[in-house]
Amino acid sequence: METVLSGIRPTGNLHLGNYFGAMKNFVRMQYEHQCFFFIADYHSLTTHPNPQNLQYNVKQVLIEYLASGIDPEIATIYVQSDLPETAELYLFLNMNAYLGELERCATFKDKVRQQPNNVNAGLLTYPTLMAADILIHNADYVPVGKDQEAHLELTRVFACRFKRLYDVDYFKEPKAYNFDEDLVKIPGLDGSLKMGKSEGNAIYLKDSPQEIRKKIMRAKTDEGPTQDNQPKSQEITNLFTLMKYVSKPETVVYFEQAYNNCSIRYGDMKKQLAEDVISFCDPIRERIMELSENDAYLEKVMRTGAEKARVSGAKTVSEVRKIIGFKNKIM
Ligand code: TRP
Repeated sequence: METVLSGIRPTGNLHLGNYFGAMKNFVRMQYEHQCFFFIADYHSLTTHPNPQNLQYNVKQVLIEYLASGIDPEIATIYVQSDLPETAELYLFLNMNAYLGELERCATFKDKVRQQPNNVNAGLLTYPTLMAADILIHNADYVPVGKDQEAHLELTRVFACRFKRLYDVDYFKEPKAYNFDEDLVKIPGLDGSLKMGKSEGNAIYLKDSPQEIRKKIMRAKTDEGPTQDNQPKSQEITNLFTLMKYVSKPETVVYFEQAYNNCSIRYGDMKKQLAEDVISFCDPIRERIMELSENDAYLEKVMRTGAEKARVSGAKTVSEVRKIIGFKNKIM
């Protein structure tokens, strides 16, 4: 069976864009492949989070992955730092990673621009750590967004280089997992094309009904159609797109017709959309709340995940040690 691996940095809560974009696919994939989902807490140290925030964010991602339908009995869900062998593989890979290729990464250049006062070595070697995450389980496929494609390419370069250097066919070259038509893009509430973490743009899975209502009622609209069958502005297209994911088909048809004959009242449409988003999020939010109260269960999930991850992770690193020449004996 093919191995699929995905990592997420614990930087905040999941929103509907994450849910319809990646999570729904992850939930499906766990039944079709051997899946590793891990929380990249080592990676998040590049921005120097305070310890409480780091811990809180790791817990939150774990909760929201489980609440979205990742089944820890089926997939392996673990915290990166619970597999410390990752750090050892990272060290080995860094010995064969070159300054030039790391500096050339667009993600690194962006960071240098964004945080010129904190250009730490962890940022520079971010792709090596990511390669360690992937190669430690010899993953076949990695679902990545556009911004991470270059990192995956570097992972292949490192895998290839290791092969040449030690003359062993040890690491597979991981491929990008393409969701193709399954890749859904949920637009933002502010008229932008993509729901993201920026202010006033996203609906989070853990938002209360009141918060959801408030956000949707404030979503950007336009002056309203003045002619029959008028093309829709981006803002209105966005509301309809969101509606397609959460509302009944007849609801969408009803508002489409109202738009096309200029009788639409955006306030009514938003009210309906808010209620449908709330019904959609309700069961997920309930699971989030239940899980948040159940530390014993979360700890068990983390422990089991770590144990499963270490089966393949520790094996890889011990084999790599031997290949490199650490034989655990003198001669
Ligand atoms: N860099 C990824 C991100 O920004 C997170 C990540 C870390 C990752 N290690 C990975 C993704 C390995 C895929 C595979 O979201």
